[in-house]
This record gives sequence, structure tokens and C-alpha cells, in this order.
Amino acid sequence: AEVHYHNFNIQATPVKRLCKTQKIITVNGQYPGPTLEVRNGDTLIINVVNNVKYNITIHWHGVRQMRTPWADGPSYVTQCPIMPGGSYTYRFTIQDQEGTLWWHAHASWLRATVYGALIILPKEGSSYPFLKPHKEVPIIIGEWWNTNPLNVLRRSMITGAAPNISDAFTINGQPGDLYNCSSNKETFKIPVAAGETVLLRFINAAMNIENYIAIAGHKMTVVAADASYTKPFTTTVMMMGPGQTTDVLVTMDQQPGRYYIAARAYASAQGVTFDNTTTTAIIEYNDYPSTGGQVPSPSLPNLPAFNDNSPATDFSAGIRSPSRVKLPEPVNEHLFFTVGLGLFNCKPNQICGGPNGSRFGASMNNVSFVLPKRLSLLQAYYLSAPKVYTTDFPAYPPVQFDYTGNNISRALSQPVRGTKVYKLKYGSVVQLVLQGTNIANAAENHPMHLHGYHFYVLAQGFGNFNAATDTAKFNLVDPPLRNTVGVPVNGWAVIRFVADNPGVWFMHCHLDVHITWGLSMVFLVENGVGELQTLEPPPVDLPRC
Ligand code: C2O
Repeated sequence: AEVHYHNFNIQATPVKRLCKTQKIITVNGQYPGPTLEVRNGDTLIINVVNNVKYNITIHWHGVRQMRTPWADGPSYVTQCPIMPGGSYTYRFTIQDQEGTLWWHAHASWLRATVYGALIILPKEGSSYPFLKPHKEVPIIIGEWWNTNPLNVLRRSMITGAAPNISDAFTINGQPGDLYNCSSNKETFKIPVAAGETVLLRFINAAMNIENYIAIAGHKMTVVAADASYTKPFTTTVMMMGPGQTTDVLVTMDQQPGRYYIAARAYASAQGVTFDNTTTTAIIEYNDYPSTGGQVPSPSLPNLPAFNDNSPATDFSAGIRSPSRVKLPEPVNEHLFFTVGLGLFNCKPNQICGGPNGSRFGASMNNVSFVLPKRLSLLQAYYLSAPKVYTTDFPAYPPVQFDYTGNNISRALSQPVRGTKVYKLKYGSVVQLVLQGTNIANAAENHPMHLHGYHFYVLAQGFGNFNAATDTAKFNLVDPPLRNTVGVPVNGWAVIRFVADNPGVWFMHCHLDVHITWGLSMVFLVENGVGELQTLEPPPVDLPRC
């Protein structure tokens, strides 16, 4: 195994998109940031130097961080942020993960521009469980604002309303040539030869919306998701939430020509072929026929309408482990968390631009999560510092609820704010039902991400989860291993994992505006016995608050 050293210099860099130049926050001046390529078993040592005026941290999304919780990165959860002028070195090893992950800033909304791919190749001497592709290309979906995204966030914090949606979606930092004021040059292109097979490593790094993704004329064979291999399955459309990755093989078996890869917001208007949530890249065969020197214009793939859930459902149901898995058993902790938006009452002297003069909020089991300020949760746990968090995060929702929006109890529409964690014993087997609620009348998927773990997705469904009947629908044979699961619109998802990694681990919706509103919680996984089951002391350069 190798050790990879990197320097991440966080800096402000002028970047031109949609005819406007603005200074955005980047790593080493690159947008998207550098692609890290390692092998399973390798170690990464990344020195992050903060040369901007904002506090920042970097999170290695999906890396299990076994016994390296200090390197996980969410600000105020596992570390205090790196202050302007400061630095911090992240050290961690990739263990038994292969495929595509990514890294991103994990403070405020800085991940809007601070992100990049983390590619994990098989160990030296071993190979993919599929035929070696001719070419590999990371495809990162992102969002672009014609202004500082932190100001968009700040405005929505002041007004209590939903933030402005972005001005463009992007693929590898480029909006694509369908936008006004976006040129052919601002389109990511993949040159291919007829007959070859390309491995596209899709990463959804969008901020606030899930995406449908398709390629004109070509099918995609999914071979991995969230850095775990899957049983290959072929599809014409994918639905990916922010935080998720999907590796697909695409064979260039069409008429030589130019074909759009397109991604569009899941919540786009029906029947629209292009809107400002549509981003495109172009697959370009090397010998396409041109008429009179004219470059043929590519065609758009067919993307489902926003209110069409079934392609999303079919796609996630298609993702399975390659073979029978040995599920952890028996379950020691049966948990049931609601996941949803809520509305806070307007207080005197508050601006309340949300529905019915309220402010948007979000919660899990009626708790709207608040990050601590003077110490990270992991430090507080390690030092036994009092009054930073409480351990009374409820295992079940406090009241009955109804996903349809009828008979919503007042408790669930008026969440309580708190820094509450849920304690897990080392080694316990956890089964968690995530139940979407629909209180703010916003039918939305929630891509729920758990740090420090990946988990089996046993089932997803619509309506209220019913233990008596829905348990029979669990896939106990070949459920996929993921780090981010979509909790469907007005529906539920069930996951299972073993609490084998001591530390404090953030669980949150990967739509950033929902984190801002409090849609998150923290698992505190206690130490076990023996050296391999206890926390390491923090690195000496761990930032102070
Ligand atoms: Cu990809 Cu807590 O994040």
C-alpha cells in the first residue's frame, strides 16, 4: 500500500461562468478541485491550508474512517473549523472500499465550489469485477450561482424563506452549451472511439436538488455505488441524490456522432426539455460525419418529468450487492426517525418569509439539530466536557404522525432545537427506519447520509412505514451497501449497520439547505474494550475553536 501526500491550498480564485467572472473558493485554484486517485488500502495525508476569510473543513465523503474519526471533517462535529490562516492535516487509510467517493468542504455552504473526486482503484495485483474499461472519466454534477453562495445562504437565514435556486447546474464545473451565455468551451467533452467501453464515475455534488441523469442513445450498466460494487444492471436513466456516487459502464455502440449526457433536477417542471437545472456534457465519437464542415448538434436524452417517481424507485431498487450478503444479526437497536421539514412560529421582531408567515425549519424525531460553537462534539466526548451536547435524542418520534399532511401533530410541525446525540454501544447492530414526513407541504426526497459508516439498504417504500406488513418487503439477500440513501417523497427507507467505529458521526440530509434548517442528528458510538475499539487521541494540530 502507498502513502499519498497532498497539499490543499484553500484560496479565492477568479472563475468565469455564464459570462461573468467572480472569485470563488477553490482548492489549489482548481474548480472542481483536484481528483485524488488511490488504491484500496492506501493512506492519504492531506495538509489543508486556509488562505481565505472563511472558516473551513474538508470531509472525505463516504470514507469509513475506521478509528480515525478526527479526520472525518464536519465542522463542530469532529473538529473545530480551520480558521483563516490556519492549517490541519487529515490522515486516513482506505479500508475495503473500491469505486468512487469524493471530498468536499463541510462548513457553511462552502462545498458549493469546494469539492472533487476521490477514486479508489482495486489493490495492486487485483482487478475490477468487470471487464477493464478503455477509459475512465469522473462526472461531477454541481450547481453554480452568479453570486457568492454564502450570501444566498445568509439571505435565506435572515428571511426564513427558501434560498434562491442556483443559476446553473454543472458537469465537471461546466454548465454546458444549452445555457444562455454558455459557450461550446463551457461544455465538458468526452472524446471516444466507436466500440470502446468507458467507465463513467458519476458523483452528485449538487447543493439542494436531486437529479435525473441520462445519456442520449446509450444505455448505462451500473457496476458500483458509493464505493461498493453492485450486481451489474442496465438502465437508461439514473436518479442520484447529492452525496451519492454511481459508476456506470457505457459502450460506444451507436452511430458515430455527438450525444448529450444530461442531468436535470428531479423537481423540474413537467415536459420541459431544458430549464436552468439542466446541465449537459457531450460524448464525442472521434469520426462522426459532418455535413459541409458543420458540427452536428447532439440530441438530448429523454428525462422523466419531475412528478414521475417510478424511474427513481426503479433505479434505486435495481442497485444490489453482487452476491448474497451476510447481514449483521440479531438487531440490538430498533430505531425509527422521522425526516422532514417543519415550520417555526414567527417570534416578535423576526423576519418570517416562509409559508404562512413562518420560518422554515427541519427536524429528525422533532429535534432540529443545532451545532455546538465552542468545541466539536468529538472533542467534547473525548474530553468529557459538560454542557456541549445531551444524550436524549429520542429513538422514536414523540407523537403519531401521518405522512399525508393530515392530522399532523403540533409537536412535529414545531420542532424543538437542540444538540442531542443518540448513544450506541460499540458493536451493536442497528436497524433504522427513516420516515419522511410532509409537514411543510413540500414533497421532497431526502438523501440521508451517515458519516463513518456504510449501511445495507433493506427496503424503501411509499406512505407510512408499517412494521407488520413492510418487514416482509425487506431484501435480506443482496441489499446494497451505501453511505447515502434516498428517503422517498412521503415514504420511508430502512437501513442496517453495525456500530463498529467509535466516535461521533453526523447523519444528515445531503441537501445543504436542509442541514441549515436542522435536518441532522449525531450518533455517538461508545468505545468498546481493547485498543482497536477505542478512540485515538486527537492529532496535535487539531484546530481550536
Ligand atoms: Cu458529504 Cu456530511 O457530508
